[in-house]
Amino acid sequence: MLTTRLTRAFGIEHPIVLAPMDLVSGARLATAVTAAGGLGLIGGGYGDAEWLKREFAAAAGTRVGCGFITWSLARRPGLLDLALEHGPAAVMLSFGDPAPFADPVRSAGVPLLCQVHTLEQARRALDAGADVVVAQGGEAGGHGVGTRSTFTLVPDVADLVADRSPDTLLLGAGGVTDGRGLAAALALGADGVLVGTRFWATQEAGASARAQAHAVAADGDATVRTSVYDIVRRYDWPAEYNGRLLRNRFTDRWHGREPELDAHLPQAAAEFGAAVSAEDFDVAHLIVGEGVGLVRDIVPAGDVVRRMARDAAVRLGRGAPRKAALSG
Ligand SMILES: Cc1cc2nc3c(=O)[nH]c(=O)nc-3n(C[C@H](O)[C@H](O)[C@H](O)COP(=O)(O)O)c2cc1C
Repeated sequence: MLTTRLTRAFGIEHPIVLAPMDLVSGARLATAVTAAGGLGLIGGGYGDAEWLKREFAAAAGTRVGCGFITWSLARRPGLLDLALEHGPAAVMLSFGDPAPFADPVRSAGVPLLCQVHTLEQARRALDAGADVVVAQGGEAGGHGVGTRSTFTLVPDVADLVADRSPDTLLLGAGGVTDGRGLAAALALGADGVLVGTRFWATQEAGASARAQAHAVAADGDATVRTSVYDIVRRYDWPAEYNGRLLRNRFTDRWHGREPELDAHLPQAAAEFGAAVSAEDFDVAHLIVGEGVGLVRDIVPAGDVVRRMARDAAVRLGRGAPRKAALSG
């Protein structure tokens, strides 16, 4: 229904790619998205070789790709070889300089996706030879730079790509939660979308039912961009990155008071660890983007793909009559 340069290049039915969400995007979710006609990416995240091997094995027979947190991959570069041994449909690099890893990916004949948050990062992704640039606005769940919104970043990067490297494809990311978001991203010049939050809230995601119920109850005002959970988890994120997640008692207490959090780290880390075990989301982190307000049900990932594609096609005047497209 929605044929784009992305669907043609990857031989997929819908221009919808699953974000490689650390641990959330395991084989179960990635294969469900691919089976429904999108493209699933396993979340290599901070890098756990055993987890990655297990998920690739579980996905065997279905075309899936894999994504890495680049600054973390730089500390465990062997993980890229591990991923490439499995013949991934794509490798996505986010959060860091893609240049050192671009050659191995591309010489393995694997399409390279680079997630960027600014025009400057988009230029560097093109310099590195990205086959697909993913322009992520600050609405997105999870990490990013957060200085740009999807609505302006996507057309900015679309113009840059058209001038500098017209064969490079572009995905819009950040706040794309339903057919309206997909239609908008295509209208802004993207060839498809990368979706995180909406797939986090599906039956196949590696997220607990309790966390999902908590998120479904939240609206789009309920998120915040912050570094407090990176501090309390002692994750070494480069200074320009922070992450969007649900606001709660913990973020209300510490956001804006990071030096004090540093000073109270042992107690705060103990409180945080206990809350994670108890799934107490007043203190534990729950990573979703602004699009969480549009998530009203936990459904199979395939339904998300089909609904999003069908509704976007209707909105763009390329689909079946409105009534039929919106049901189911
Ligand atoms: C729970 C969660 C975990 C994420 N983990 C990663 C990750 O490990 N690597 C990555 O490149 N992006 C990660 N992201 C960001 C996504 O790649 C993507 O940019 C984002 O989800 C898009 O915005 P949306 O959440 O509004 O769809 C994560 C996002 C979420 C919601």
